[in-house]
Amino acid sequence: MADLIVFEGIDGSGKTSLSRMFHDHLLASGIAAAWLREPTDSPLGDRIRRTAQENDAISIQEELELFLADRRWDVENNILPALCSGTTVVMDRYYYSNACYQGARGLDPEAILRANREFAPEPDLVFIIDVDVERALERIGRSRAAVARLFEKKDFLRKVRANYLALRGPNLTLIDGNPDLERVFAAVLRRYARNGAPTA
Ligand code: TYD
Repeated sequence: MADLIVFEGIDGSGKTSLSRMFHDHLLASGIAAAWLREPTDSPLGDRIRRTAQENDAISIQEELELFLADRRWDVENNILPALCSGTTVVMDRYYYSNACYQGARGLDPEAILRANREFAPEPDLVFIIDVDVERALERIGRSRAAVARLFEKKDFLRKVRANYLALRGPNLTLIDGNPDLERVFAAVLRRYARNGAPTA
């Protein structure tokens, strides 16, 4: 099976840009690759995004169920078919987001990881893009018209970041996301090369 490579981090960490740059890099190297994001672009993924904007509209348990259902759909319809056909899959968020975000809302991160691993394939490589919460909020502020409830968000993102930093596993690699994007991307590529990047 082809590789599953995941980019994770708090909002404003740069993971979306980096995952897209990485996907472009693979294509330019002649490697068949797909870029996917979670929440997905399915109707359920759209619903999750809308619900996220209406704060506290659903319970934390319901929120967890929605993310799990969306990911189950993604695994069946996108991730496994791509991997089985030899296409490298690059993901912008995966089940570590589930563990770290819903974990920050009070659920047990380990239990969330276990629930996901029952149906979701283990990635070959996970880049955790780590940035200071202040820097992340600065970046969000620059790219979005308004940062709603900034202070509340700050506390929440601190918890999410702590959960990311507490993750352990041989396939996890922490990348300092504070420097400018080009330098962070160079660090990603160096780490990928060490992992034994396939040749086209
Ligand atoms: P993200 O893709 O970062 O949003 P956008 O592209 O709009 O910037 O993800 C949306 C939010 O969903 C983000 O705050 C993280 C959260 N999330 C969870 O809480 N649990 C999950 O399992 C996933 C995949 C995302």
